[in-house]
Amino acid sequence: MAVIFYLSGSGNSLYAAQQIAENLEGCRLETIGSYLRKPYDVKDEVVGIVSPVYCFALPPLMAKFLEKLKAKPNYCFGVVTMGGNQGRALKQMSEILATKGVTLNYGQTVLMPDNFFGIPLEKREAQLKAAEPVLVKIVGEVAEGKADLGSVKEAMLWKLFGTSASWWYLKNRLNFEVMTVDATKCIGCNICAEVCQMENIKLVDGKPEFGSNCASCLGCFHWCPQSAISAGKLTLDNSKRYTHPKINLQMMKGDQ
Ligand SMILES: Cc1cc2nc3c(=O)[nH]c(=O)nc-3n(C[C@H](O)[C@H](O)[C@H](O)COP(=O)(O)O)c2cc1C
Repeated sequence: MAVIFYLSGSGNSLYAAQQIAENLEGCRLETIGSYLRKPYDVKDEVVGIVSPVYCFALPPLMAKFLEKLKAKPNYCFGVVTMGGNQGRALKQMSEILATKGVTLNYGQTVLMPDNFFGIPLEKREAQLKAAEPVLVKIVGEVAEGKADLGSVKEAMLWKLFGTSASWWYLKNRLNFEVMTVDATKCIGCNICAEVCQMENIKLVDGKPEFGSNCASCLGCFHWCPQSAISAGKLTLDNSKRYTHPKINLQMMKGDQ
């Protein structure tokens, strides 16, 4: 049996995880939020981790998930989807897993539309097209249990400067961790709460309230049909709004 744990805001990583799962016998998908709420001993022989890259590293909640993971797989693979540069995300994944006695056997990156800066539609389409053969290769290699750590590289520069400097900038300059809603635009549809894998959003009097367990995935921001949600100073207009074209709301809610 196999399991893929994933985190996904705009659907890139979920799409990658779905493609791999479809070709792995008896493979289920599980969000890291679900595991973090109820950790358990993972008995699966194959364990996969699919994650976006944040600030040249793993998202902090993905790192936390790996630190909590209890598993003893025969084969473990990691795939990161990224807008341009993984920094040391896969290396970080292999290091945390090693502290848990788990060996990362395979690691790969997939370039997909950047859900932070937002990119023009034509470029998005070209990137999505270019991602397909990369995914097909990964799907095949994972299905055959290939070992390949060629992309699991040390990137000390990002460890020392990239990640901490970027998070500092996001937190202190963009106030990125303070999610807010424009009550004049919000229609109380509850989509933000439904796509939040951390269950960090609750509707109170018809408007979203944000808890303290945000994964910074920007899911609420991108899926809001009214573009009513901002992440600190990062406000979203429709041109920046991006969700993976083959991922729908049902899938984001976990009904794969
Ligand atoms: C807070 C934040 C930081 C990001 N930092 C990076 C980065 O350092 N390098 C990169 O290549 N992409 C970066 N991205 C882009 C995402 O990794 C990329 O778009 C990913 O495919 C999103 O996957 P998802 O839709 O499954 O969440 C960042 C995105 C966010 C939200």
